[in-house]
Amino acid sequence: MTGARLGAGAAPGKIILLGEHAVVYGQPAIAAALSIGLGAACEAHPVPRLRIPAWGQSGLDITLDGSRLDAVGRAFAAILAVVDPPSRAVLVTVDGELPLGVGLGSSAAFAVAVARAVADHAGKRLDQAQILAAAAAAERVFHGNPSGLDHTVCTLGGCLLYQRHATPRFTPLAVARPLDAVLAWTPRAGSTRQAVEGLRARHDAAPAQYDRLFEYMGALTRAGEQALAAGDADALGRLFDLAHGCLNACGVSTPTLEAMVHTARSAGALGAKLTGAGNGGAVIALTDGDSQPVHAALRTAGFQAAICRIGG
Ligand code: MEV
Repeated sequence: MTGARLGAGAAPGKIILLGEHAVVYGQPAIAAALSIGLGAACEAHPVPRLRIPAWGQSGLDITLDGSRLDAVGRAFAAILAVVDPPSRAVLVTVDGELPLGVGLGSSAAFAVAVARAVADHAGKRLDQAQILAAAAAAERVFHGNPSGLDHTVCTLGGCLLYQRHATPRFTPLAVARPLDAVLAWTPRAGSTRQAVEGLRARHDAAPAQYDRLFEYMGALTRAGEQALAAGDADALGRLFDLAHGCLNACGVSTPTLEAMVHTARSAGALGAKLTGAGNGGAVIALTDGDSQPVHAALRTAGFQAAICRIGG
């Protein structure tokens, strides 16, 4: 019996700091949990129901009543099936600052926060493997066959070095201190798959040149690992600038992403780059601790932006 007990769960968003796209070609990437994320509240309800006021045109309100479900509804059902099969009569409400669909791990944060809230409501303590299993079930609904990077970072937090092998390998990284940053974002044109396939076609037309570029991007990631361990924000900012140039060379930047990067640098960012698949999506700008001027410049230029910390 759960009675009037309210369950709560939360999960951070994720960001790729260095190595996106090159990771597809065997190079390492670094991902980190964000200080912004999603929260979920779970209470008893006659039929399983999910409410996300901030998603969609006028919010999502999905009831698992046997009618046809969209991806969010199917992901919700998948989480319930893993976390709490016998008592699925719950209302889960999800909210938070994390923007949807711009490569900041919103679907993984949704899955992890919901899994934690439902388990908490049922009075269960889930270990990390169980949370990862529930989140993986939801992520398969959203993304088919994901690498696991997003929900692993959203579950474990901190900073991870990620390498694609037959089985993806995640290594927690030492971070000397949390770093201050500003995120800005714009809607994405096309999917991650399209961005990856576009770059694959460019690579296949000139493999030797692109492979050298990817090797260099891998070297930037390794240098980033050292900068994080040393807490050297200046070095990391420089690496961001270099990595952004590489991602531009990969053909995944856009005029809007370039404008956001330029605005952040002009306002004093230590470095700025696009993050994730590109073709729109998010930019991360590292700051020296005072993120206000960079945030204000991005907002004044008309971009959506938020101050955050990484590696906490
Ligand atoms: C997308 O978040 C990251 C990419 O490297 C694709 C991938 O690793 O699957 C662009």
